[in-house]
Amino acid sequence: MADRVQVFDTTLRDGEQSPGVRLSMSQKLEIGRMLEDLGVNVIEAGFPISSPGDFESVNTLSKELRNVTVCGLTRAVAKDIECAADALKPAARPRIHTGLGVSNSHLDHKLKMTKEQALEKGVAAVKLARSFVDDVEYFMEDSGRGYLDHPEYLYQVVEAVIGAGATVINMPDTTGYMFPTEYRDFFANVIANVPNSDKATFSCHCHNDLGMATANTLGGVIGGARQVEVTVNGIGERAGNTSLEEVVMALHIRDDLFQVETSIKTEKLLAASRMVANLTGMIVQRNKAVVGANAYAHSSGIHQDGVLKERTTYEIIAPELVGAEKSEIILTARSGRHGLRHRLHELGFNFPEPRFEELYDRFLTLADTKSEVMDDDLRELVEAN
Ligand code: KIV
Ligand code: ZN
Repeated sequence: MADRVQVFDTTLRDGEQSPGVRLSMSQKLEIGRMLEDLGVNVIEAGFPISSPGDFESVNTLSKELRNVTVCGLTRAVAKDIECAADALKPAARPRIHTGLGVSNSHLDHKLKMTKEQALEKGVAAVKLARSFVDDVEYFMEDSGRGYLDHPEYLYQVVEAVIGAGATVINMPDTTGYMFPTEYRDFFANVIANVPNSDKATFSCHCHNDLGMATANTLGGVIGGARQVEVTVNGIGERAGNTSLEEVVMALHIRDDLFQVETSIKTEKLLAASRMVANLTGMIVQRNKAVVGANAYAHSSGIHQDGVLKERTTYEIIAPELVGAEKSEIILTARSGRHGLRHRLHELGFNFPEPRFEELYDRFLTLADTKSEVMDDDLRELVEAN
């Protein structure tokens, strides 16, 4: 049987940290219900100590969602952990997500601590969290750069926090600095060098500052990660987080390479994307992988001819697999005869030569004046022909 990769969705926490996004409680619940239905394994519903709204989000989703793990974020600080435990009390499957920085940058400038002090604080945080819940995830903030600074220190931290009871180890590339093969090796090396690594699940959490969040996450899976932290449409701080739909579909389509499964119902991905775009106001770019408006649209004559003869010539994802209706043939000045004939046929028109040739010439003249020739334009052309 293929290995399982757990999908940890942080749309409501890291995603909601996108500049300009603010969701109401009812919108968060709507997204939470949709995520549960989509099949995600863990929903990070907020950072309870940070605001009453975040506390309410974690608390309400804990009450309402019974078939998914609900997670609350904390710093490695007692009052944060107690607050998260309180918010998570009604949850069927509660998880506390705690941790602190491990890179030189975070230790020296943000935490102003020695490595030993930070390690001690992390261990204490895990022990406290474990006194409330059985499922504790530990994040080593900025661990991508931290690994490049001092891998041995990260091995020590991981061993110590697993020893203290952490069940999941999150190794975030907080600043989006890593390269896929580096991130892969990071996971492989931690797993190989930490004696108790078999007692925890390892998790990828990537940011998209260099456009590599999805590639890095997939690198992490190859390196041994069995949880991916993602957001719908890749929304999140700065350039965003790893996009849920991209990772899920890459694992699915390249099953030959990854040989892992997720529990995501892929046919619900497009609806999930549209809901999050509508509620957050974060518009999805047309050419976005998997869920963009152009992802299954073909506009050049050569591509249209290929797809009409055999869809897989230019499409590696069947549109129905993500809940899209069908591949689209967009008529533009680059379209050929095959595309035009196909669309006319769909509209109920079948013209013999030479009438079709005449129509095609007039179609090209019109197409040069606009970005897309619509069905109504075609009907007018036909009537005037
Ligand atoms: O990017 C990051 O490091 C985070 C942690 C708080 C998990 O979001
Ligand atoms: Zn993050």
